[in-house]
Amino acid sequence: MNQQKQKTILSGMRPTGKLHIGHWTGALENWVALQEEYNNYHLVADYHALTTDLDTSALHTHTIDMVIDWIAGGIDPMKSPIFRQSKIKEHTELHLIFSMLITKSRLERNPSIKEQVRDLEIENITYGHLGYPVLQAADILLYRGDVVPVGEDQLSHVEITREIARRFNSTWGEVFPEPQPKLTRFARLPGLDGKDRKMSKSMGNALLMSDDPETVGQKLRKAPTDVQKVRRNDPGRPDVCLIFTYHQKFNPGAVEDVRAGCESGALGCVECKQRCGTAINAFLAPHIEKRRRYEEEPKLVEDILHDGEARARATAQETMAAVRDAMKLG
Ligand code: TRP
Repeated sequence: MNQQKQKTILSGMRPTGKLHIGHWTGALENWVALQEEYNNYHLVADYHALTTDLDTSALHTHTIDMVIDWIAGGIDPMKSPIFRQSKIKEHTELHLIFSMLITKSRLERNPSIKEQVRDLEIENITYGHLGYPVLQAADILLYRGDVVPVGEDQLSHVEITREIARRFNSTWGEVFPEPQPKLTRFARLPGLDGKDRKMSKSMGNALLMSDDPETVGQKLRKAPTDVQKVRRNDPGRPDVCLIFTYHQKFNPGAVEDVRAGCESGALGCVECKQRCGTAINAFLAPHIEKRRRYEEEPKLVEDILHDGEARARATAQETMAAVRDAMKLG
């Protein structure tokens, strides 16, 4: 395919360390699938991490751990640059310009900020936290991203990005595309605690992509199943069972069989979980294998980041030149 005609994707994630299987189904799988068809940029949102946590001591380790999972999961860093937001100064420059194009009340109406303020019990939000969708707009538009793969919780940020792009273009001239969100199909994977909430490391209900077979087995054994299925042969309701959701994702070939067994009572939870664990472990085995190489030689990851940063910086500088030109900043 002609490189020139390929559309650009900008995908980003906060550096939270090792990824879990919910990151795979909710984001990474999609990124990998899209990398042939599009021109991709993969951003480590390390400045975004500061919005909710000023402790930067683990930021570097978290970045490396996450990037290893990206690569082991199938992101090809030769094709698509992987880079840290904080290493490209143009992000802060464009963020400042964009901050003039959006009102404070618009940012206060942003539903995902409202949710964070509520969930994290934030009494007094910082200027930077309130404005983080503006930084995200700079992340996307610096690479003139056409498409942004996101989960539902980030849709409002892509909308803000579109508004800022329109505002810039109508004020100073056409520089930016209006990016489209691309929703992931299997967005939310429930956590292992069965509390009907997302998988998340901070909630302690996550199955990591780097978990070894024994850990996977243990975590699944502890997970709650349908409360109405008390004894082995009681009929169960797969649609309310999180293990069934994992079967659907990681053991698609056996889904009908598992459903029939669960509903009739022929399949007990212990065996069902064993089958689920076997499928998840088979899925994770090549990932863990590939991870090992980078864990043994972390310098490889540093090199990948430096290379990605040089390439991302070149694009970012081009865009900033067009921005300055349009704004007659010289
Ligand atoms: N805001 C995203 C999050 O909190 C991370 C992010 C930063 C991002 N910049 C981005 C996502 C650009 C997509 C595109 O998870």
